[in-house]
Amino acid sequence: MWIDGKPWRTIWAEADGTVGIIDQTKLPFAFETVGLTTVAEAAHAIAAMQVRGAPLIGATAAYGMAIATRVDPSDAGLRAAHATLGATRPTAVNLRWALDLALESVLALPEGDRRAAAYALAARIADEDVARNRALGEHGLALIRAAQADGPVNILTHCNAGWLATVDWGTATAPIYRAAEEGMPVHVWVDETRPRNQGGHLTAWELARAGIPHTVLADNAGGHLMQAGQVDLCLVGTDRTAANGDVANKIGTYLKALAAQDTGVPFYVCLPSPTIDWTLGSGAEIPIEERSPREVTHVSGLADGFVVEAEIVNPGSPVANPAFDVTPARLVTGLITERGVAEASRDGLAALFPEHALTSA
Ligand code: MRU
Repeated sequence: MWIDGKPWRTIWAEADGTVGIIDQTKLPFAFETVGLTTVAEAAHAIAAMQVRGAPLIGATAAYGMAIATRVDPSDAGLRAAHATLGATRPTAVNLRWALDLALESVLALPEGDRRAAAYALAARIADEDVARNRALGEHGLALIRAAQADGPVNILTHCNAGWLATVDWGTATAPIYRAAEEGMPVHVWVDETRPRNQGGHLTAWELARAGIPHTVLADNAGGHLMQAGQVDLCLVGTDRTAANGDVANKIGTYLKALAAQDTGVPFYVCLPSPTIDWTLGSGAEIPIEERSPREVTHVSGLADGFVVEAEIVNPGSPVANPAFDVTPARLVTGLITERGVAEASRDGLAALFPEHALTSA
């Protein structure tokens, strides 16, 4: 995507092997990049959410394994890096997918060949993410086109499933960016997405830079807008989709799906195929990350030109912070993948990905 006339991806390798990322904890108030040179730094970037979003977590993990080959390319060193990176965030399955792929590929090689192979694999994972998202964008574009009547198509999205959550294009935003390229009028309702505000901070920032009309909403407003006929389509991402089509995504997604079902608004989930966990028979088995209570008790924002934190909850009150929820397949109109739109069911996914059907739970 373009920022101020320059094309950017969310992750890249420098000539010396340093891995560059955009520090998403600083957006939207500052645009800063960080260079990762150790496995600990790569793990911190994922855990502290300098990078986040399922596909980007996967790409960062792959680059983290590449960094590991510079530091200690032995079997033990690489297994330790796999364990460190794998312990960062539990819900997005792209993490495990990329780590397993990287470990398996490099362990098969002599130590001297591992570094080049690991960087090449990470670059391939990044390139393939871009291609998959671009392809799913094409399938989603057809749905936006079909929803077009008079005026802009109003699309509601939750969290940030934009290009910042991937290497490029985004998942839920890929159809939107394609629609904008085609000159189709679209307007995006952006859920603020408490507690970390990925919608208000990141999705709004992206859409503004791309010149796409959007409006930020308090999380509780979406149901009301759907009742009022102001939402034509919901497009969201997912961190892990079970083999039966249940989807885990940012907390609050389930409530949007319920409201969409009640009001007859189509609810689509956009995902590149590495987000499908073929080993899980249902969404009930998806591990849900519990994050720090501080994300609920405090908000950060700009005051007098400085980013400050403010406490917003009664001091001492107990706090829970589940970061994801599971939307059952029955509430999902369809799964938009790089191969087309699947029915959210075991049969629907198996029809698009027959090579996994035999191995799935
Ligand atoms: O906690 P985050 O910000 O990593 O959560 C991100 C999401 O829930 C996205 O919707 C999901 O990863 C799909 S993104 C392409």
